[in-house]
Amino acid sequence: MTAEYKVLGDVAVITLANPPVNGLGYATRVGITEGLSKALDDGAVKAIVITGAGKAFSGGADIKEFGTPKAIQDPNLLSVILALEHSTKPVVAAIHSVCMGGGLELALGCHYRVAAPGTSVALPEVKLGLLPGAGGTQRLPRVLGVETALNMIVSGEAVKSEVLASLPGQKLFDKLAASPESLFDEAVEFAKSVAAKDGELPLVRNLPCKHPQGDAYFQFARNTVGAMSKNYPAPLKCVDAVEAATKRKFDEGMAEERRHFTNLMFTPESIALRHLFMAERAASRIPDVPDDTPQRPIKTVGVIGAGTMGGGIAMNFLNAGIPVTILEMKQEALDRGIATIRKNYEAQVKKGKLKADKYEQRMALLKTTLSYDDLKDADLIIEAVFEELGVKEKVFGELDRVAKPGAILASNTSTLDVDKIAAFTKRPQDVVGMHFFSPANVMKLLEVVRGAKTGKDVLATVMGIAKKIKKTAVVSGVCDGFIGNRMIEQYSRQAGFLLDEGATPQQVDKAIEKFGFAMGPFRMGDLAGNDIGWAIRKRRAVETPDMKYSRTADKLCELGRFGQKTGAGWYDYQPGKRDAIPSALVNKMIEDHRKELGITPRKISDEEIVQRLVYALVNEGAHILEDGIASKSGDIDMVYLTGYGFPIWRGGPMHYANQVGLYNVAEAMKRFAKNPRDDADFWQPAPLIRKLVAEGRQFG
Ligand code: 3HC
Ligand code: NAI
Repeated sequence: MTAEYKVLGDVAVITLANPPVNGLGYATRVGITEGLSKALDDGAVKAIVITGAGKAFSGGADIKEFGTPKAIQDPNLLSVILALEHSTKPVVAAIHSVCMGGGLELALGCHYRVAAPGTSVALPEVKLGLLPGAGGTQRLPRVLGVETALNMIVSGEAVKSEVLASLPGQKLFDKLAASPESLFDEAVEFAKSVAAKDGELPLVRNLPCKHPQGDAYFQFARNTVGAMSKNYPAPLKCVDAVEAATKRKFDEGMAEERRHFTNLMFTPESIALRHLFMAERAASRIPDVPDDTPQRPIKTVGVIGAGTMGGGIAMNFLNAGIPVTILEMKQEALDRGIATIRKNYEAQVKKGKLKADKYEQRMALLKTTLSYDDLKDADLIIEAVFEELGVKEKVFGELDRVAKPGAILASNTSTLDVDKIAAFTKRPQDVVGMHFFSPANVMKLLEVVRGAKTGKDVLATVMGIAKKIKKTAVVSGVCDGFIGNRMIEQYSRQAGFLLDEGATPQQVDKAIEKFGFAMGPFRMGDLAGNDIGWAIRKRRAVETPDMKYSRTADKLCELGRFGQKTGAGWYDYQPGKRDAIPSALVNKMIEDHRKELGITPRKISDEEIVQRLVYALVNEGAHILEDGIASKSGDIDMVYLTGYGFPIWRGGPMHYANQVGLYNVAEAMKRFAKNPRDDADFWQPAPLIRKLVAEGRQFG
């Protein structure tokens, strides 16, 4: 049982007790109905209070139960709410901390609601590709008005209880408690006072629900929502359901909501978004690092190098209120770095995203230095200097000399071996990779690179600090490119082969952007700088001379077309503009290249483009799992969703492969292996894929 029952005088108290957030799973629902029955049977009980133990009133329906028989097993949430409505004794919800989704719907089924200030109130189902399925679309408009309710339902965003309580005419809360601490006592007193009253118990379902502009308002809502959510069916269904609340009888509206909820539950978008919710939380767990591993305190941070990455990295900590000392070789480099940080903050102030006084507060936390001795007190030092092992050796040698015992020494290297870097110190257990993505103050992804000797407490600390600076941290083992770049290399190779065989950069970009990627590989190359990949390929030519790849990208770089920064890349660019204009010169270069190779171009379908690019990610991802570089497929999905613009509604490459069916994916790979222009060795399905297909299983 995950709901507790007790009686205080003439008030029965049902406390949801299903940690961590009192999800309304089967056992909790049983607990509520059993508590309710006891209270109704007990002649001494005059009123009932429902509240939540721990850090939430309730986070809603138990997401982990979705898709299992328990999700709908009676008592389901609808029948629990109905039972509350039917209670002949007044039921008061005492709401605090978090009241979301089914939790809010449960509260709306109670006769009265008392809320603590500071409670986050939301119907966030839309973020899971759903709509509220236990009456939220029918009841919330009745207590907050159609517009406020629809905004909350369509955005899924949380609103603080005191804000909602201050809305004129609101009927969501009957009382706002003076403080979270006094909530329970106030709710019990409130329950006693309503028990003493005569008359019918109030039900939200009986309140009127109308919008003065009717059809015109809902047309406007559809236009707004439709434009914002072209890849998600849920937001428009939210509008439909709320409109039904204004036009139909309550029970008919409920039936319409239920129909949409059931349909949405099985859409690929909702399945992907639910996977993402779980994968994001699971990513912060490292299999052999227990949750209670002690973390080292991080009160001050040092950053070495104030270039492209160092400045952005520093901003993350300043934003979180953590003081940063940034070190450079020369004053000019420091000045340039600080000017860029200021410019970034000033742009935020100009756009109204940051208040001027906050900006100054953040800058006041920043110190600069040319001397390593000023880093002696730092708890965490992140190196972001040139990508050369010799330079890293010098820097880590200095850090080993000055850093206090227990300081964490991190490298932002994108390609170098973290174990080698750790070996430059006498404390390899304190060394870890923290691979931020550019722009480091914006991109959510942080690959945490675990060296062979990295301490478990170091990993736990870095995962904790990542949360504080609002990054999605994913642990990667040491290998060339870590998770993200190791996979993208295979994707880029496919993009090159497609050009050799007959596609144009714009066709490839368009096909994969239609699939949902934020940017195709060629536009992305132009943005990041084609010279970066060129340098990697030159290194590869020495390390793995047999690796097959298209020479078109090298030829592009030989023309000095590095991308937007040189005004030309795969595309042409007008001065000061970022619009990618197809380039006749590049297309001619590709044609000439094909002639040199004796290739007759063929028409390539968008479907083939998407499959070759995405399945290249999947096959390399499977190798990454086999090699133990990533510990679970959801981690790989998180890397691609937060760092590489993979379409969120497709759930990441590994989830997408599961959805397509691994058998189909493997068969496509075997077809690609027969293409003489492609890389037959690469397209052998990874042993893990073959094993899963043979066992009828998925990446899990
Ligand atoms: N069901 C089951 N588990 C849940 C849950 C839920 N509704 N909400 C959160 N959890 C779990 C998380 O999976 C995580 O578990 P873990 O520790 O094993 O990884 C744990 O609670 C803590 O979650 P967070 O790390 O997100 O904790 P925070 O304190 O940062 O945030 C929260 C708490 C605001 C409740 C946040 O978890 C959240 O937004 N949850 C989702 C709420 C939601 O979407 N509710 C709607 C569910 S659908 C529904 O109700 C359908 C109904 O209309 C019929
Ligand atoms: P950058 O060239 O913009 O900046 C490097 C800075 O380090 C320069 O300002 C330089 O003066 C300073 N520096 C060099 N040697 C130093 C030393 N011994 N002591 C103190 N300062 C020194 O380089 P960028 O792009 O910021 O890259 C830094 C690191 O981050 C590299 O390891 C790179 O691989 C990695 N990285 C880069 C990404 C990018 O997109 N630019 C993305 C992720 C990681």
